Amino acid sequence: MNRQEDFAGWTVGMKKTFPFSGICRFWPMLLVLTLPGGCCGPDVHRLSVDRSKTAESEYTREDALRMIRASEGRLSPVYGPLAEQLVKDLELERRAIIGIDIGSGPGTLILELCKRTEGHWINTDINPYFFPYFLQQAEKHGFDGRVSAIVADAKALPFRDNYADVIVSRGSFWLWGDKLEAFGEIRRVLKPGGVAYIGRGFSENLPIDVAKNVRGGQGGTLEYDVTKTAQELRDIMTRLKIKDYRIIRPRLNNKEGVDYGVWVQFHKQK
Ligand SMILES: C[S@@+](CC[C@H](N)C(=O)[O-])C[C@H]1O[C@@H](n2cnc3c(N)ncnc32)[C@H](O)[C@@H]1O
Repeated sequence: MNRQEDFAGWTVGMKKTFPFSGICRFWPMLLVLTLPGGCCGPDVHRLSVDRSKTAESEYTREDALRMIRASEGRLSPVYGPLAEQLVKDLELERRAIIGIDIGSGPGTLILELCKRTEGHWINTDINPYFFPYFLQQAEKHGFDGRVSAIVADAKALPFRDNYADVIVSRGSFWLWGDKLEAFGEIRRVLKPGGVAYIGRGFSENLPIDVAKNVRGGQGGTLEYDVTKTAQELRDIMTRLKIKDYRIIRPRLNNKEGVDYGVWVQFHKQK
């Protein structure tokens, strides 16, 4: 699997220098993360693989920097509209929810969700090098106290059963390896009646000219087959016996030929 896939093509000139100089004071925050009551300690199953070592060796500071640059550059117009769409579709407005963004990376989507909701949002990423940046951005926008960050593999989420109201993820699930396991984890961690929205690409409400620009001015030549991915997501829903789901192909067959990607929204049964 090519881990550069989603990074390549998005890289743009860095707007500002990544503030490593000022981040040292955030490391203690990473050690004492204040997750609201749902982060469980390791159990026997999770200790069977030392995931912290895997993360350290495979997910680097450079990976994080590259994605941060992309999120501040060409990808930046994507997050606001996506958050708006999520709030509308998942009915999150003025709800004090607990939300998790898996593979949130720079956490830009979380900041946009914080602007539009009243809940607590958790950045769960396999690469901890994102977190100093994320926490600094959260503080800058006045959302410290409303966000947390925890290093984790999507396939072994460190949360108790029935913990979160909402789980979202953009541009990450293709990296999860055993996706069935990861989606099973998402279902386990969701509260009964909770909702997940997982996918890659853009939201329906992203203007076409903006989407085109993000895709590098091209119609949408992607490095993955969207139709096959949609089928893969359908198969995962079937295998997990999740009935209440929908596959979302925003602006499918638009005149400009811009590909908006693919998403799945599903509810955990009450
Ligand atoms: C293309 S980036 C997308 C980041 C962010 N969601 C966004 O849209 O700006 C993919 C992210 O998934 C994370 N990731 C990759 N494999 C993961 C896994 N198994 N569990 C959790 N996060 C993972 C990466 O570290 C990276 O932050």
